[in-house]
Amino acid sequence: MRKISKGLVLLLVFALMVPMFAGCSSDEPAAAVEKETITEKTIVIGVSLPTQREERWVRDKEAMEKFAADLGVEIKIQVADADQAQQAQQVENLLTQGIDVLVLAPHDASASAELVKIANDEGVPVISYDRLVTGSDKLNYYLSFDNEKVGELQGKYFVENVDKGNIILFAGAPTDNNALLFFKGAMSQLQVKIDSGDYTVLGGEDFQQVATDNWVPSNAQNRATNVLTANPDAQIAGVLAPNDGTAGGIIEAFKASNVELPVITGQDSEIAAIKRIKIGEQSMTIFKDTRDLAQAAIEMAMKIASGETVSTNGNVDNGVIEVPSVLLEPKVVNQGNFQELLIDSGYINEADL
Ligand code: BGC
Repeated sequence: MRKISKGLVLLLVFALMVPMFAGCSSDEPAAAVEKETITEKTIVIGVSLPTQREERWVRDKEAMEKFAADLGVEIKIQVADADQAQQAQQVENLLTQGIDVLVLAPHDASASAELVKIANDEGVPVISYDRLVTGSDKLNYYLSFDNEKVGELQGKYFVENVDKGNIILFAGAPTDNNALLFFKGAMSQLQVKIDSGDYTVLGGEDFQQVATDNWVPSNAQNRATNVLTANPDAQIAGVLAPNDGTAGGIIEAFKASNVELPVITGQDSEIAAIKRIKIGEQSMTIFKDTRDLAQAAIEMAMKIASGETVSTNGNVDNGVIEVPSVLLEPKVVNQGNFQELLIDSGYINEADL
C-alpha cells in the first residue's frame, strides 16, 4: 500500500521534471520521468456499493464513473447484492488490488466497522457513503444527505395531507442506519397526532415491528396485505413508506385488496415512483441528487489522497466518535414540482415517464 501522500509524490515528480522543461538534452531520462509521472499521479479510488436493486444505486455508480473519468482518477467499483459477507470479500479484494481511498456504502452499518478496521490497518482512509458505518473509531469521513431531514420532510408532508384516521407505518432495513434516521425524522412530525388520538396506528409503531428486512419491496407488500386483512373494514388515511421501492410494494397490496389508496410517501425519485405520482397513486417522494453525492465523493477522495484539507459541514456521532461529515440537502417532490426538479434538471428523461 502506498504510504507517501499524493501531494508529496506530485512535488517530487515536478522537481524531477524541471530539467525536462528547461531543455534537458537527453531524451531517455525525460521519457522515463514522464512515464513515472503518469503512473504515480493516478489516484485509485475503491468503491464498495451495497446493492443495485434500487435505481438510485445504479445512478450513484454511473455518476461516480462519469466524474472519475472527468477528473482523471481511476475508480474500481464493486457491488454486493445486499449481502454483508459478499461486501466484506469485495472490500478485501479492492484493498488487495491497491487503492488510495475506500468509499464504502455499507450493507450492514455495524458489521462494516470491521471493514473500516481492515482498510485502516492497510493505511487506506474510508469515506462512509450515503449510509453511516456505526461503532467504528477508525472511520475518516461521512458523506450523505441529511437523513433525519428526509424523514422530517416525509412526516411534514404526511401531517399536512392526512388530518385524521387510520394510518400504517413502515420503516427500512434494520441493518441500515439511514432507516432509523428516516423513521426518527418522520415520527418527530407524526407522534403528536398519534398521541392526540387524531391518528390510529394499525399494525404497530415500534421501529423493529415496522422495519422492512433488506428494504425488499415484497416484504413491505406482505406486511401491508397482513395489516389490511387483519382490519378488513378499516379505511386507511395514510401510509408512511420509507422509500419508493417499499411504496411500490405497498401500493400493490392495496390494489390487490381492493382498498382505496391512501396518502403514501416515498423517497429516491425513481422513475416508477414519478409515474405513480403523475397518476396520483403515490403522493410524494424525496429527491436526493445522486449526481451531487457521487461528485462530492470523488472530489473528497481525491483531496484525501493528495493530502489536501477536506471541508465538512458538521459532525455525526456514529456511536463511538464524531465523524467529520458532509450532508447534502434533500428535497420534496410532488405532482407540482417533479417537472422542474427532475426533468428540467436532467435527472430523469421525460421520455422514460
Ligand atoms: C438509501 C435510500 C435507499 C435505501 C434502500 C438507504 O440507505 O439512503 O436512498 O432507498 O437505502 O437501498
